[in-house]
Amino acid sequence: MTPLQKLPAPLLAWYGQNARVLPWRSDPTPYHVWISEIMLQQTRVAAVLDYYRRFLEALPTVEALARCPEDRLLKLWQGLGYYGRVRNLQKAARQVLANFAGEFPSRLQDIRSLAGIGDYTAGAIASIAFGQAVPAVDGNVLRVLSRLGDDHREMGSPPVKREIASALEEIIPRDRPGDFNQALMDLGAMVCLPNGDPLCGQCPAAEFCLGRLRNTARELPAKPSKKPREVQDRWVYLIFREDRVVLRRRPDKGLLAGLWEYPNEPAPWPCPVAGRTVPAGTGRHIFTHIEWQMEAFAVESATEDLPEGWVWASGRDLEEKYPLPSAFRAFEKLVRSRLSAGSPHDMGANKP
Ligand code: ADE
Repeated sequence: MTPLQKLPAPLLAWYGQNARVLPWRSDPTPYHVWISEIMLQQTRVAAVLDYYRRFLEALPTVEALARCPEDRLLKLWQGLGYYGRVRNLQKAARQVLANFAGEFPSRLQDIRSLAGIGDYTAGAIASIAFGQAVPAVDGNVLRVLSRLGDDHREMGSPPVKREIASALEEIIPRDRPGDFNQALMDLGAMVCLPNGDPLCGQCPAAEFCLGRLRNTARELPAKPSKKPREVQDRWVYLIFREDRVVLRRRPDKGLLAGLWEYPNEPAPWPCPVAGRTVPAGTGRHIFTHIEWQMEAFAVESATEDLPEGWVWASGRDLEEKYPLPSAFRAFEKLVRSRLSAGSPHDMGANKP
């Protein structure tokens, strides 16, 4: 038996002892479950309780919700945030009146067709209010299952989510699907905690949870893999004249803001300063989100004139006046020797 197959019996027994007492659980009509699930999106149980009570007092039925004036509706929601949720609630209430004769639909596809209801919410309503054996997979459930199976895949990805949902469909108890789904939610909220230590000592799955047995629970679920760095090919000009080199200041915003640099741009970039040009080696620098692959060229400038904002810097200026980012360290030796020599004899010698 897989850990997932072992889960239902001990989880339901644990739920019998530890289920949170929540108002929508005492009378789980479709309307009650629906309102509670929408409120619980992006909002903690403790913050929802008062809103839930007030909302149902004011709007006890789908019909009342469908007819409620907008300002009154928004007032009932004020403080919960994500106001699109309550607009969709009313839109869905009107769909129920128009398309389902005022009766909240029980077929999964029909529930799913209502405004603001996705796979998770449709599964929660179908299982909790209608007793259908369908899963309700949210972030908490994915965390619990990633640990239970020592599953290091990216849990948020649609194919993994689909696979988890169909694995749950296989094992969800036909007689208590709503309890099973809510037990998973409670386990995630009270025991199999996110960020840091899960309380494995209190967990009904501790004996067969692979994340606990292999000591990986704390690292799970695996963080989504970051997108690879953008690699930029850049041409860098080391422009010399006598014992000075050209620098320019970077823009005030963005990467290396306000620092000085040897003129460089994405390749290919013709040098704006006329002169004899020879290859001068390569350099690479890794930033957080991008990587520069630099090809340098040494230029013996034919003129003093420079584009707007570019300056001639002596060796001393380089040391004392202009902050140069370490991204250009690969060219430091060449620039130094060229500036102290005051002649182009060493140009092109820098091959890291
Ligand atoms: N979070 C979202 N839905 C829930 C429910 N029905 N019970 C407990 N926590 C939840």
